[in-house]
Amino acid sequence: MSGDPGAARPAAPPRSIVLVGMMGAGKTAIGRRLARDLDWPFADADAEIELAAGTSIANIFAEIGEAAFRESEHHVIARLLEGPKRVLALGGGGFVDPRTRVLVKERAISIWLSADLDVLVRRTSRRNDRPLLQGVDPRARLAALLEARAPIYAEADLIVDSSRGSVRSVVAEILAQLDRRAGGGAA
Ligand code: S3P
Repeated sequence: MSGDPGAARPAAPPRSIVLVGMMGAGKTAIGRRLARDLDWPFADADAEIELAAGTSIANIFAEIGEAAFRESEHHVIARLLEGPKRVLALGGGGFVDPRTRVLVKERAISIWLSADLDVLVRRTSRRNDRPLLQGVDPRARLAALLEARAPIYAEADLIVDSSRGSVRSVVAEILAQLDRRAGGGAA
């Protein structure tokens, strides 16, 4: 691993790694670092949707609405899962779409980056461009989304708590869980 030259490098996972979870769970920051440690490419589904549409997620929601955004989200994720192995961070609703969930399950190893509500509220308050948090009480909206989505995120192959610790320590926990899953570590 690039972060710890003394440590044995874990076996590379056989399929792409998809990070799922709520807004504010740290999917992008953790995904970037994980990709760096694995020496894999990284992609962020939201950024790819923005690239394909030539505009921001906020504008997509405002101009064509959430349903059309979800359609585009599904197609972009499907395309990204066709390519070479990578670390892919999904937007918070990506894994909630049943069609996307089936694809992710078929083609990748999915990891739910869980985080408690206080952490999600604090982290999402740093940006004000998330359409689902506009014009509402963010805490109440995040609580409702978390309650509705937690059982769906729990269908991921692995669950890693991202509430505490540094990006680096969360990545270390992901790599340890991947290694155990591959039969490489003491379970
Ligand atoms: C959404 C999360 C956002 C973005 C869009 C909808 C959601 O991504 O895809 O605003 O439904 O939770 P992040 O989880 O990266 O903020």
